[in-house]
Amino acid sequence: MAEPVEVLKPDTKFIADVIKLGGQSAKKCFQCGTCTVTCNVSYAQTHDESFARRLMLWTAWGLKDKALTDPAIWACYQCQDCSANCPRGAKPGDVIGALRALAIERYARPRFLARWFRDPVYLPLILAIPAVIILGLLLAFNVQVPSGPVVYKHFISEIYVEIAGVIVAGLAILATAYGMLRFTLETRLPQPGAVDGPGALAADLPAERELPATMVSTLSDVATHADFRACQTETTRTWGHLITMYGFPLLLIATALSFLYGLVGIDQQSRSLLDPMKIAGNLGGLLAFVGVCLLIYKRFQAKPAKWGVGTYYDWLLLWLIFANVFLGFATQFTRLAGGVNLAYWLYVAHLTVVFATFVYLPYGKLAHLYYRLAALAALRQGSKTGPASVFIVVIAGVAAVLAAAAVLVAVLAAVAWVAQALPMGLLALPESGISLNLYLPVASVSIPFGCWSPLASV
Ligand code: HEM
Ligand code: SF4
Ligand code: SF4
Repeated sequence: MAEPVEVLKPDTKFIADVIKLGGQSAKKCFQCGTCTVTCNVSYAQTHDESFARRLMLWTAWGLKDKALTDPAIWACYQCQDCSANCPRGAKPGDVIGALRALAIERYARPRFLARWFRDPVYLPLILAIPAVIILGLLLAFNVQVPSGPVVYKHFISEIYVEIAGVIVAGLAILATAYGMLRFTLETRLPQPGAVDGPGALAADLPAERELPATMVSTLSDVATHADFRACQTETTRTWGHLITMYGFPLLLIATALSFLYGLVGIDQQSRSLLDPMKIAGNLGGLLAFVGVCLLIYKRFQAKPAKWGVGTYYDWLLLWLIFANVFLGFATQFTRLAGGVNLAYWLYVAHLTVVFATFVYLPYGKLAHLYYRLAALAALRQGSKTGPASVFIVVIAGVAAVLAAAAVLVAVLAAVAWVAQALPMGLLALPESGISLNLYLPVASVSIPFGCWSPLASV
């Protein structure tokens, strides 16, 4: 009996999308295989010898599902070793970058938000949504720029920024969890002896590894950029990325501490520059600033005939990170210099850009941070479900912490409201207590929490 014939259905819209996202050179490929041979990660991580060349073929033929569900797209570092050597100028590094952008869009819900990230027409809308939330809070409670020394909480109440932050972070986590679920269901792992998919031609796929060993090896690779550093064409970019990446956890620690300080009534602004929150914020900001400047510099140095010009989609992430850090430092230094009006409006701009970076995390290029981690772990372990379970636990953990923070804030707000309704003096602060300053319209309320008293003296 004759073998069943697979009918290929080219998706012309997919090809048009790849072209819009910087992959216009894909059709130049004549399948010589040089890209696969020159790529330092093609075999080490993906265990197949047809990695880059295969993706070029599928893209040119419009085989969307095959291309976008191949985990190899996340093992590519866009280092451009292949593009530098491609005899046809087909720029495989950039084509695979376009595939990643479309994969993020495939898993994003609501999907239209991801589409906003590839068209500059939507930039005003991307910024307008957080700006409207923040200006709305300002209008609701205080339209006046306070006189005297700059105290941000007198302009916009910390508690409202925190509530808004928890709500939008919660939505972003839901979208992340959904994206990870779809990603896990659809990703196709290497199969020994396959002829046209992940693992093609490889007969010696490693046996499945233990999950803890997989996670340790994936995280240490990412932490040291060991595989990333194997790339030879764009080495400065590797260092730029490493430095930027380390800035982020520090900025996250600073944000978490600031949230905590706000809750327990510690005045953040008056903290010295040696306070842990300030050290984490300034060091993280400095790392992210230096790293992103290196990345921007490398993009400006692109060789248009060969690689790396970058599309609006690529530039948007770079400029968003730049704006975050630049506005953060500008806000701090303008305050220290006593520039009253400017400091308040810089603060509003900074909050807007911070919201725009993190609220939209599952929709733009930054989502690569978790898809890459998941794909690299799955490729290493030879299993999707192991790494996926780790990610589900992490996502659930972050969601639980946020939910707990939201409940705590709600309870404290309720206590403040009740306290306001009670006769004065009923909730007087004992000597050992700390002040829980809830900057609600009800002003600040002091509640006895003797067990937290050590914090009061911080
Ligand atoms: C907080 C964490 C992270 C931040 C802030 C971050 C930031 C960035 C930025 C700004 C770029 C664009 C570079 C450019 O346009 O030239 C980028 C690209 C890249 N990132 Fe990350 N990243 C993070 C996590 C990760 C992780 C966990 C990996 C895993 C290996 C990774 C791997 C890559 C790779 C390979 C590229 C180059 C390909 C591309 O531009 O899409 N990143 N990252
Ligand atoms: S992308 Fe370039 S190097 Fe790779 S197979 Fe096609 S023509 Fe050859
Ligand atoms: S850009 Fe680098 S990692 Fe990606 S396929 Fe080309 S050589 Fe390999």
